[in-house]
Amino acid sequence: MMTTQEIRTAYLKFFQDRGHQVIPRSLLVPQEDPTTLFTGSGMQPLLPYLLGQEHPAGVRLVDSQTCLRAQDIEEVGDNRHTTFFEMLGNWSLGDYFKQEQISWVWEFMTEVVGLDKNRIFVSCYSGNQKLGLPKDTESANIWSEVLVKAGLDTKQVDLISTDHAASVGEQGGRIFFYEEKNWWSRSGGPEQMPDGEPGGPDTELFYLYPQVKHNPKYGKFCHVNCDCGRYIELGNCVFMEYQKTKDGFAKLPKRNVDYGGGLERIAAAALDDPDVYSVSVMRPVIETLERLSGKTYETATTPMRVITDHLRAAVFLAVDGVTPSNKEQGYVMRRLIRRAVRFAFELGIEQNFIEEVSRTVADLYEADFPEMAQRRTSVIETLNREEKLFRQTLRKGLKQFDKLSDKGRLNGEDIFTLYDTFGFPVELSAEEAATRGINLDANWREAFESQMKLQRERSHTAAKGTFKGGLAGQGIVHKKYHTATHLLYKALRDQLGDGVVQHGSNITEERLRFDFSYPSKLTPEQIKSLEEEVNRQIDRDLQVSWAEYPTSKALNEMGAFGAFGDRYGEMVKVYAMTPKGETKPYSLEVCGGPHVEHTAQLGEGGKHFKIIKEESSSAGIRRIKAVLA
Ligand code: ALA
Repeated sequence: MMTTQEIRTAYLKFFQDRGHQVIPRSLLVPQEDPTTLFTGSGMQPLLPYLLGQEHPAGVRLVDSQTCLRAQDIEEVGDNRHTTFFEMLGNWSLGDYFKQEQISWVWEFMTEVVGLDKNRIFVSCYSGNQKLGLPKDTESANIWSEVLVKAGLDTKQVDLISTDHAASVGEQGGRIFFYEEKNWWSRSGGPEQMPDGEPGGPDTELFYLYPQVKHNPKYGKFCHVNCDCGRYIELGNCVFMEYQKTKDGFAKLPKRNVDYGGGLERIAAAALDDPDVYSVSVMRPVIETLERLSGKTYETATTPMRVITDHLRAAVFLAVDGVTPSNKEQGYVMRRLIRRAVRFAFELGIEQNFIEEVSRTVADLYEADFPEMAQRRTSVIETLNREEKLFRQTLRKGLKQFDKLSDKGRLNGEDIFTLYDTFGFPVELSAEEAATRGINLDANWREAFESQMKLQRERSHTAAKGTFKGGLAGQGIVHKKYHTATHLLYKALRDQLGDGVVQHGSNITEERLRFDFSYPSKLTPEQIKSLEEEVNRQIDRDLQVSWAEYPTSKALNEMGAFGAFGDRYGEMVKVYAMTPKGETKPYSLEVCGGPHVEHTAQLGEGGKHFKIIKEESSSAGIRRIKAVLA
């Protein structure tokens, strides 16, 4: 049986033997592409070459690219989704095409890795008439030849969409046509692609795990793209020959192949184990957690998976130079580490444990990644430091716990406050209450969940700009205070640093109230300077405007402010306040509105912005009340 490490090496060698140059992986943080936070696929760093630029290593390339898909962070916990993984990649930049790619990937999977050929199924692109994109019968026919040679059936079935597939089933096929599922571009399907982006039809390979029974929760019938886990995608051959244009699609100057295979998933298939956490670069981490917790993986599967995934990701982020912070990549890294600590509580691990887990991860990669060996000490230190910092935050949460439980019982809202404001794990609250003999309301879980839901809905509606029953439709005074709140947030960030994050806001006809993270009481000088800054921006008469953007662009690329704990949909409304005659906004904030049209309106009638109170709202959170008077 091949280990994960052996499969990686064998893959590079297989394609080297077929004229490919091995290229080094790119960092997890894209160096020349500010539009995304992380390298999420092998093709991302190769984009310019797929578009036609000449690659110094030639027209046949192969690598194993470390990838991070932060959008999957909350999905982690099942047997196959991870935020961090390695994508095996081979490329033809205008050289070979479908014939070679399909035969080679088949040969690699069945002869090199030794997977059971009877259990491999494939999908191809069914085309989109409306967009003038043809069905990929060429790939399907090449598959037929390959499968016949292997002594397999070659029945082709049109399934089109996952809904359709779930209602009709596989019908004994081996080659399935889907539409959306078999088009690949960095932005998704053909309709989601921005002008200029390359993409194309793809053909994917799936491995059947007969030991996994179909779960009807995912549809009446199982099929290769079903989410029940019976079929697991192993790899994707993208035939990148199109480029999106203003009026449709044009052919790229050269036809490219972009193949991406999930290394850990292929290694799991080699073990005939649908659980990706069983592979040789994962299992030792699980074993470390078993040792530290005294629990078994079988009884504590989810927390062990989450911790394993998150710390592997965090270790590689540290190797690639990221440090935990409240911004961009650093923020994701912080979330990963904090989630790992929280899940460790579920395992009963309450002492520092990350150092030991990081060591295990480093051991697994050192031999193949020299940068891991070089940076080992500083990587472990970085993670260790963040864990300690978070444990301090948790201690603050514990103090708040004392405060809230003074009344002798706790309800779901209290537990939500602890979770939302202090990052205090829910399970920990429940346990803490039990040890101290504090009663929990019988329905605390429901109350907690409904607070979570409310918060999600609130941010969702706010993000969609339909703040019903909130600020919309209310008077001019409200709008003025709302605009003043944005100016205050910006001034706080500029003067007190990026550690300031909004934790709540409330507006009445009389005043604004703004809660934000900051460790200490503001001095009279700081308050004065904040007032002066807000008034300066009122006098400058900034123009207020808004537009919708994809969420990640707004938060990461444009640096628009958001509020702590807010969850956003795909698109958000961003309010900009811009000096007249200039294009660069003074402030950018994700917000549902509404606002005044220009900031001088706040000063109408000779009014000025004044802070009337600055106090502690809870541990680590300050509260400002301010008026226009
Ligand atoms: N670029 C393709 C993917 O990420 C191979 O699936």
